[in-house]
Amino acid sequence: MTTTQETEQQKATLQWGIVGTGPISDNVVADLSTISGAVIRGVHSRDAAKASAFAEKVGGAFSTDNYEELLADGRIDVVYIATPFATHYPLTRQALLAGKHVLVEKPMAMTAAEVAELFQLAGQRNLFLMEGMWMKFNPAFVRLREEIAAGRIGEPRSVRAMFGMPFPQDDGSRWDVKRSGSTLLDQGIYPVTLAHSILGEPESIYAAGTVRSDGLDLAEHFTLEYSGGRFAHGAASTQEFADTSGSVSGTKGWIVLPGPFWATTNLRIHADNWQTIVHNPEPVELACEGNGYVPMLRAVSEAIRIGLTEHPLHTAADTIAVFRTLDRIRSAVETGEVNRGKDEE
Ligand SMILES: NC(=O)c1ccc[n+]([C@@H]2O[C@H](COP(=O)([O-])OP(=O)(O)OC[C@H]3O[C@@H](n4cnc5c(N)ncnc54)[C@H](OP(=O)(O)O)[C@@H]3O)[C@@H](O)[C@H]2O)c1
Repeated sequence: MTTTQETEQQKATLQWGIVGTGPISDNVVADLSTISGAVIRGVHSRDAAKASAFAEKVGGAFSTDNYEELLADGRIDVVYIATPFATHYPLTRQALLAGKHVLVEKPMAMTAAEVAELFQLAGQRNLFLMEGMWMKFNPAFVRLREEIAAGRIGEPRSVRAMFGMPFPQDDGSRWDVKRSGSTLLDQGIYPVTLAHSILGEPESIYAAGTVRSDGLDLAEHFTLEYSGGRFAHGAASTQEFADTSGSVSGTKGWIVLPGPFWATTNLRIHADNWQTIVHNPEPVELACEGNGYVPMLRAVSEAIRIGLTEHPLHTAADTIAVFRTLDRIRSAVETGEVNRGKDEE
């Protein structure tokens, strides 16, 4: 192999460190292993045996229970952080300070201020940083935006999306404010991101919900209001089902994202003529690659290779704006009288 070929190959290869060995890491790493040029070099778990078992499954990766050791490994270019989200801000900050590019699971952090600080740090160090908002990279979501940009449904006027599931009460991080603990940040981030992608940041917000006495928001519903009467309706809940489909409506028709809207592989386009609008929407079927994370992982790999510090499909400004809305919804839900403490056992 010539020196030029070596350089090309090295440039084409990105070495990944995996942080956290839960089910989401399993799914994402399975997809990562199908991406050209992605090498999983190291695995971190707080438990050495779990790190070692995960690394063995991946093959060719070293394992450690020491996060500093993972970050100190000069071969690792980028870390994927898939831990409970109250830990995202410190773990991401530490990785950026160690000179690593970062893909961190949603939600990137707990507040807009934390997210802004992380992007500032990444920018200063010329490092790539992105929240793992895979929904925006899914082919159906990309197609939705293309159809809207082409004027298929006219001017977009409203968005509707909910994510409600009565998850079992167990000792998982979703029920623990110290580790994660926010239905809005865990689930509500999807409807809010969908609304932002279509209508942008809202001018005013109405929100109410159910908050446990330790501050964990268990459920919320919200209306995001925009100029000219445009709006988004959204909800999230761990207490009951809320139809997980979504839709975007406009002056000439509407597009449905069948549930779960954040991972859908098809669309139904109600547009063009009365028959199609009202009775027979055009079905659009799109492929799902792997577990669904392949498009995002491919996009992140390409962005890092060409030296971007943020991805154009999910920029720093997009992410911070979504968190500003999440902050406002949480504050309205937490301070509102509506349902506060209602479900206390
Ligand atoms: N994109 C998606 O489709 C998707 C789906 C589900 C979840 N998520 C996101 O992925 C993240 C993880 O969610 P999850 O439900 O997988 O969480 P989880 O099961 O509670 O934790 C994931 C892993 O993080 C590590 N961990 C646990 N507690 C920790 C702590 N206090 N400090 C550091 N590491 C800790 C553990 O791995 P070790 O024992 O190996 O350290 C655990 O297996 C969340 O941000 C969630 O919103 C995304």
